[in-house]
Amino acid sequence: MKFDFFNESTPPLIGVDISTSAVKIVELSSSGKGSYRLEGYAISPIPKDAITDGNIVGLEQVSDAIKLAWKLLGSREKRAALALPSASVITKKMLMANDLRETDMETQVEAEANQYIPFPLEEVNIDFQVIGAAPNSPDEVEVLIAAARKEKIEDRVAAAEDAGLKVAVMDVDTYATEAAYSLVANQLPNGGKDQTVMIVDIGAVMMHINVLHDNNSVYTREQAFGGAQLTQEIQRRFGLSVEEAEIAKRKGGLPDSYESEVMQPFVQSLSTEVARALQFFTSSTQYNRVDHIVLAGGCAAIKAVDVMVQDRTQVNTIVANAFQSMSLGSRVKQNQLAIDAPSLLIACGLAMRGVD
Ligand SMILES: Nc1ncnc2c1ncn2[C@@H]1O[C@H](COP(=O)(O)OP(=O)(O)OP(=O)(O)O)[C@@H](O)[C@H]1O
Ligand SMILES: [Mg+2]
Repeated sequence: MKFDFFNESTPPLIGVDISTSAVKIVELSSSGKGSYRLEGYAISPIPKDAITDGNIVGLEQVSDAIKLAWKLLGSREKRAALALPSASVITKKMLMANDLRETDMETQVEAEANQYIPFPLEEVNIDFQVIGAAPNSPDEVEVLIAAARKEKIEDRVAAAEDAGLKVAVMDVDTYATEAAYSLVANQLPNGGKDQTVMIVDIGAVMMHINVLHDNNSVYTREQAFGGAQLTQEIQRRFGLSVEEAEIAKRKGGLPDSYESEVMQPFVQSLSTEVARALQFFTSSTQYNRVDHIVLAGGCAAIKAVDVMVQDRTQVNTIVANAFQSMSLGSRVKQNQLAIDAPSLLIACGLAMRGVD
């Protein structure tokens, strides 16, 4: 299930996740037999407020961050797969006769889109993909339509191209998460088969929730909660700038009171947020339980966060590492990767589009 505004999605390419707090780039290659090799990755911070609500506000700041990340990556590859935040994409499934030609499908998609997209069609980019045979209807296929405002796409493309990249694919962040999750599923009993799994990506300002049942997405939701709250508290307590607080958070060096008085309470509220997400999910869907929680995003790097979440929710909880069974290129530092892996899930899913 892919959302592809540009059709030349042929490899090679790098996965570039432009998110609130940072640009994250992942480069994969094939190591044969359907397995991947992590050639390299890089993370470069984006100044506060340059991206708000998923929109690029400071174009130059963002493209500078992309430029730096690409330099740190140390690759020659300039073709990139980007993602739109799912909040700026409208998706809908429809049924179509299974013997339609491509052009007839396009006509039907446009007619359908006209009905549910709240903007003039000329301001919108639409793409669609046949997912497969329609359940209970042998003569029809299920088609996924995705639409996004052109300006949202153009902003991202501009930031990447100003940084010297060439945009080959525009995906959706939730789809990229699902692609990368297929690698994480190996960490679960029976590869996640027949299980209900809640992926909780906790970034700087948002908690992105995506529940999969039998490895298919059945539910998504966002809650305003993220690591920026912890950063702010560090700033306030210890009189640091944002940059200093971010560094301290990752590298340590804060007074002893930090763990018990600042970090622990934050992880408590994080666990409460996850419990709330669980509650929302079970009370608003046909599912009455979740078998596993997979934590991702920068906040999943906090020490013992999985233990606390599991304690609070009583659901088996793991931290996502999509690279666990990959071979590593010489540019990758294994120790640092163990810390960064959970925040690279989307970039990894995007990079997977560059490998046959
Ligand atoms: N090692 C670490 N320890 C603690 N916190 C960390 C660590 N690494 C990153 N973070 C925090 O995680 C957050 C960034 O996570 P991530 O990169 O997933 O966010 P994002 O994708 O930019 O944001 P969003 O998903 O909200 O748009 C920041 O608040 C950062 O301080
Ligand atoms: Mg994120």
